[in-house]
Amino acid sequence: MNSFPCRKPGPFAPAAATPEKRWVGASFGSAAAGYDGVAELQREVGESLLARVRHLGPRPVRVLDLGAGTGHFSGLLASAFPAAECLAVDIAEGMLRFLRSHRPAAAGIGLIVGDAEALPLANESVDLVFSNMAFQWCERLDVALAECRRVLRPGGRLAFSTFGEDTLGELRTAWRAVDGYSHVSAFATRRAVEQSLRAHGFSKIRVDAKTIGRGYPSVMALMKELKALGARNLTRNRPRHLLGRRTLERVSEAYGRLPGMASGVTASFEVLTALVEK
Ligand SMILES: C[S@@+](CC[C@H](N)C(=O)[O-])C[C@H]1O[C@@H](n2cnc3c(N)ncnc32)[C@H](O)[C@@H]1O
Repeated sequence: MNSFPCRKPGPFAPAAATPEKRWVGASFGSAAAGYDGVAELQREVGESLLARVRHLGPRPVRVLDLGAGTGHFSGLLASAFPAAECLAVDIAEGMLRFLRSHRPAAAGIGLIVGDAEALPLANESVDLVFSNMAFQWCERLDVALAECRRVLRPGGRLAFSTFGEDTLGELRTAWRAVDGYSHVSAFATRRAVEQSLRAHGFSKIRVDAKTIGRGYPSVMALMKELKALGARNLTRNRPRHLLGRRTLERVSEAYGRLPGMASGVTASFEVLTALVEK
């Protein structure tokens, strides 16, 4: 597997609530072994995204699974497009190592450790970019979208899902009542995603938004699941100290006071999906 250096930061200072990229690969890499056991939402979203591209014509010659993780969808893409060359790119080497050793269906897939914001691929070399639930980890979604357009051949498709701004809104609000740190990443708005796609010259743009509510036995169970997914708090303004028991009790109490939480803990996930053409 190759390693590729990250591009230098862009001209805009990253916001305090965007993830710090240098920790993203390490966090997901260390979560690789347990990821599939907790990635129910990611699978559900990815399956409906895959259903949208499965029967697209013309058949792609080269397919990229971007932010492939443990390769669940890389394997499904390889089966859906048996004549195509499939590549899996992920910033977390640990994820790709897991993919190689645990995913027999993905045996022929090319694995590349790389960054969506600086893709290690040639211009116009891919017919389909599939990216499920990875772009929310990019510092600059617009840079990742520009990279996808660069590597796509004319007429090529980009199909992706990412989290929208309402995702984990309850947890964000609850933490706000406890301290001034950022505990939940800031996610893109549907409008910003559409504008960025338009600005980068994609066509046939349609971004769908769907909010999924998931129930948890407790706020701690929700935070434990996020950690098991590799989705730790990697925002720049995160607390750098261990969170004490009393702090965690306070966030649970604040969550319980939110409207609609009297009978249990619910977390909202706003999922944005798009299928666009170069
Ligand atoms: C939530 S997982 C989704 C994995 C897989 N696509 C799935 O649907 O199960 C997000 C993945 O995106 C990867 N990722 C995050 N930031 C990335 C970046 N800038 N470039 C490439 N991969 C990235 C993570 O390492 C992780 O494997």
